[in-house]
Amino acid sequence: MSIVGVSGGLSSPSRTYGLVQAIINELNDVSPQQGTLIDFASVATAFGSVLSREQLNFEQEALLQRIEAADILVVAVPVYRAAYPGLFKHLFDLVERDALERKVVILAANGGSAHHALIIESHLRPLFSSLGAYTVPTGIYSQTSDFTNYQLTSQSVLERVREAVDEAIQLRSRLFHAVEHKGLVNAKYAA
Ligand SMILES: Cc1cc2nc3c(=O)[nH]c(=O)nc-3n(C[C@H](O)[C@H](O)[C@H](O)COP(=O)(O)O)c2cc1C
Repeated sequence: MSIVGVSGGLSSPSRTYGLVQAIINELNDVSPQQGTLIDFASVATAFGSVLSREQLNFEQEALLQRIEAADILVVAVPVYRAAYPGLFKHLFDLVERDALERKVVILAANGGSAHHALIIESHLRPLFSSLGAYTVPTGIYSQTSDFTNYQLTSQSVLERVREAVDEAIQLRSRLFHAVEHKGLVNAKYAA
């Protein structure tokens, strides 16, 4: 089973990265598989000049394939102007239309304040639902005051991290066993 986190921030160091790191750490504690992390900030400028999948270089194509191959995907974005950064949306515009179907996705966002906490419901969830992903019910929203040296330290947000991870593990397990029960296990679902 592949677990991949995508930090959709554009800065470094980054609280968004710290948020994804906290979620991946929790997943690593409860899953035998170790999750890996993609820091979009380090490649965002180059992705900005790519207009179609055919224009991707080898490393960019490999990065997209890592996202597409994930069984559990963790996605976190910084709030920019009450939405996600445009370059983050561009990254997911390049993902194959059906690649995330029936994949389990944990949604997270970080803002300067609590004003735009609904970005998860208004922007992230519709995006991933449109791609056919199963997003877990608990969204994780943090703000600047929830971090110490870019590490997520708020106990209430960390509690939501635990809830979302628990939901993701249960959902992934039910999906896998439902398909296995029907004798339909294939490479897409194999652990
Ligand atoms: C261009 C820009 C627009 C922003 N707009 C918002 C906003 O609308 N609402 C908000 O809560 N924070 C806003 N912020 C603050 C960022 O969400 C915050 O700095 C970011 O989540 C910190 O994460 P990072 O360290 O990964 O960049 C904005 C920041 C930038 C640079």
